[in-house]
Amino acid sequence: MLRTHNCGELNISNEGQEVVLCGWVQEIHDKSLSTFVRLRDRYGKTQLMFNADTYPEEREKAKTLGREFVVKAEGIVRKAFKTNPNNPTGEIEIEVTKLTILNESKTPPFTIEDETDGGEDLRMKYRYLDLRRNPVKENLALRHRVSIETRKYLDTIEFFEIETPYLIKSTPEGARDFVVPSRMNPGQFYALPQSPQTFKQLLMVSGYDRYYQIVKCFRDEDLRADRQPEFTQIDCEMAFVEQEDILNTFEGLTRHLFKEVKGIELSDFPRMTFAEAMENYGNDKPDTRFGMTFKNMNPVAQNKGFKIFDDAELVVGIVAEGAANYTRKQLDKLTDFVKSQQVGAKGMVYCKCNEDGTFKSSVDKFYSQEDLQEWANHTGAKAGDLILVLSGDLNPTRKQMSELRLHMGRELGLMDNTVFNPLWVVDFPLLEWDEDTERYHAMHHPFTSPKPEHMDRLESAPGEVNANAYDLVINGVEIGGGSIRIHDRDIQARMFQLLGFSDEEAQEQFGFLLGAFEYGAPPHGGIAFGFDRLCSIMGGSDSIRDFIAFPKNNSGRDVMINSPAFIDEAQLEELSIGLNLKEQE
Ligand code: AMO
Repeated sequence: MLRTHNCGELNISNEGQEVVLCGWVQEIHDKSLSTFVRLRDRYGKTQLMFNADTYPEEREKAKTLGREFVVKAEGIVRKAFKTNPNNPTGEIEIEVTKLTILNESKTPPFTIEDETDGGEDLRMKYRYLDLRRNPVKENLALRHRVSIETRKYLDTIEFFEIETPYLIKSTPEGARDFVVPSRMNPGQFYALPQSPQTFKQLLMVSGYDRYYQIVKCFRDEDLRADRQPEFTQIDCEMAFVEQEDILNTFEGLTRHLFKEVKGIELSDFPRMTFAEAMENYGNDKPDTRFGMTFKNMNPVAQNKGFKIFDDAELVVGIVAEGAANYTRKQLDKLTDFVKSQQVGAKGMVYCKCNEDGTFKSSVDKFYSQEDLQEWANHTGAKAGDLILVLSGDLNPTRKQMSELRLHMGRELGLMDNTVFNPLWVVDFPLLEWDEDTERYHAMHHPFTSPKPEHMDRLESAPGEVNANAYDLVINGVEIGGGSIRIHDRDIQARMFQLLGFSDEEAQEQFGFLLGAFEYGAPPHGGIAFGFDRLCSIMGGSDSIRDFIAFPKNNSGRDVMINSPAFIDEAQLEELSIGLNLKEQE
């Protein structure tokens, strides 16, 4: 080793020892008699002292250092002249007897400090420098701990970690595939897995009844703060289980992770049906850190002559506690928010429940004080509260109100990111109707089992069939999702039919799975956690990028390596790209 210690471990008990440290120059302070250099590595920072009297040559060398130079410093641990209580090594400094410059550095394009002056784009371009910063390093340390604790926990309950291939064929998880041309099979393409779904099911057929993998998945979809084109899952599958067994097992894993990594004991996870989540939160991933649940106001708001409410399928309100003092300007801003393209409501009605017992609403023309009192009784609003109301068709209005509720939660400071509220959302519909293609799509994926008691409605009323599917939600983020699978060949074939696959298409795409189901497929089910999302929630951040060493930007680009990139003509030719060989066949 070039060093005897790292930059985070020396303290006053080491006084007088001869040590060698290596690291990067964080700061240089030149005083009249000495030069002080703060040396940084992954473990911390230590102050180096170059004394002009005792080691004048080394002091002169220190004066030539610049930020981010890589150096080796040999010296003696001394009690610091001025102690720094904020730094674990702050009681000591190293009197340097020999300085070696291991490498020089250009001045970095942004400051490598906890609070940097670098914008997102610049930091991503020089991500290798950004990664030197403490907050980023702490995020990666958390990620490392979560992965270690995941492996430890699953290992103790007999899960096997098994790798599945990346060069495969389409797995339908609802996004587009990334494809890879095959040189050896001209005109043909692999698809990168959107998840290892079919492989983990095959492993169940093979008898590996508890499988997991911390695995990369690839999805070509529109990106957001919590979506990356390549991301990581903790992917799991179990055989001979029912839904309840899976929920308990993975509640156990989640609790273990919070306890070991964050020191937090989570209580039992409540269960909420999809229907309840939609009715009360307008959202299948409710943020339950705060209330403000939906109140159906049809009974008190309709038939009073206000046409917009009378014509609406749903009139829905939320109560913002203590917000009756919102100014006109604040209310106008809320109206602008709900009318923005992102939310899409036509307008918003408010009712202030004043402290003096009177009411002031934006629809006073249609509603008397008694009517508004009824609104307050119906919604549970008290003096000092603000009722916000939206109306329209059921599903879009719920969605808009969900956005408004989250906006208010944020505005009123109700989203404390040191609080963790997990829950299971269960009983998802099996299918959802897609207006564009005019057919049903699997809400989770085509391998999800209908609830046995709904099986007889599969063809007659497919929209009413619920699935044995579940999501783990924490603080309004979908952390994981899974289901009990179909393990019967004929039911799986019926399912493909329902989703609009012809028998030939089903055979061509999933013949291997249907075939495997003919050789003793056990009942099975599983779940996948979004690993990046789990880490970002645990780390108190909204953006999964902060927890990925080399993430892509919102256009799916890696601006550091400048990818994706064009490839040259010869390479295209070698890969037979541009020729549609299937047509020629
Ligand atoms: P699903 O598609 O719900 O299920 O994915 C599981 C979890 O993965 C995370 N996730 C993402 N994270 C970051 N970027 C993305 N683009 C992205 N897409 C999904 C989410 C999500 O809950 N095979 C099934 C699992 C199963 O049935 O066992 C599947 O992949 O946190």
